[in-house]
Amino acid sequence: MALPVLNRGEKLNPIIELGYNGINFHHRCFLEKGFSSHGRIYQTRRLMPKCSLSSSRPASQPRFIQHKKEAFWFYRFLSIVYDHIINPGHWTKDMRDDALELVELNNRNLTVVDVGGGTGFTTLGIVKHVDAKNVTILDQSPHQLAKAKQKEPLKECKIIEGDAEDLPFPTDYADRYVLAGSIEDWPDPQRGIKEAYRVLKIGGTACIIGPVYPTFWLSRFFEDVWMLFPKEEKYIEWFKKDGFSNVKLKRICPKWCRGVRRHGLIMGCSVTGVKHCSGDSPLQLGPKAEDVKKPVNPLTFLLRLLLGVTATTYFALVPIYMWIKDKIVPKGMPI
Ligand SMILES: C[S@@+](CC[C@H](N)C(=O)[O-])C[C@H]1O[C@@H](n2cnc3c(N)ncnc32)[C@H](O)[C@@H]1O
Repeated sequence: MALPVLNRGEKLNPIIELGYNGINFHHRCFLEKGFSSHGRIYQTRRLMPKCSLSSSRPASQPRFIQHKKEAFWFYRFLSIVYDHIINPGHWTKDMRDDALELVELNNRNLTVVDVGGGTGFTTLGIVKHVDAKNVTILDQSPHQLAKAKQKEPLKECKIIEGDAEDLPFPTDYADRYVLAGSIEDWPDPQRGIKEAYRVLKIGGTACIIGPVYPTFWLSRFFEDVWMLFPKEEKYIEWFKKDGFSNVKLKRICPKWCRGVRRHGLIMGCSVTGVKHCSGDSPLQLGPKAEDVKKPVNPLTFLLRLLLGVTATTYFALVPIYMWIKDKIVPKGMPI
């Protein structure tokens, strides 16, 4: 089988090669030539994706699922098979435990909100460390939540419908805010992360587990019509702008991908930040740009739907392709 050219950035990635996945972005020098983390010096050049197309678009031209109404319909149908096709290929139990390590779920009495909690896959990882009665699962999709309600370990969780941009929790409420695999649907991530900041208590931690930006052209094309896959530095920027400190990013990926990130990953990193001052985020934002009530031209919708379905199929196949390559290519060789 012909191997696509390996992205040099991936091959040289010191974090993956050294088996060290934690990057402490608290140090101001992230954007400078090198930065230190736990006594090691890394060249930040290598952290930057090779391709640098902007991953942000105007809210008036969202990607297919980067729109609340379209995301609602997407999960209406995907919820039927979600646990059987998304998690095994993109979001395994190992990855979940690895990603949640940064959240420091070190006390069973912590108050945790799992926003965009969907079918409760990530919540199952949370309730291993925290009493279920202290955990709230919030999602905008009743269909996804219906699946969470059926899971025995989640019986005592509070399960509510809601919007991540307008959380129904008081300010300074939770010890931990977790969001896994949902930021890609958000029309305005800066606003959603600002809301995460508001609902956390002083000293509370927000954790966003999300995708990574593809560098392979075809993957980038499908990402660009389908969902938001932010660059690593974009997550850091959003967290910092909203007032979080001690921002950290940890790379995750399915075992069979061998750290390869050129196709993007639906779950590719876990980013955390700590809230150090009580109250709302210091960031002031204008009114929301997204208008979910605006009528949609049926032809435009159909075209977007077709592209969205094609992109979904493409990203459902990527893990299978990588899994086969992992089986064929000898260990230690690039795939
Ligand atoms: C890919 S699923 C992830 C589900 C779950 N966190 C997991 O780990 O499997 C993304 C979820 O985010 C939800 N979502 C998308 N936008 C949202 C919003 N603005 N507010 C609340 N939930 C949202 C979707 O309904 C969907 O259930």
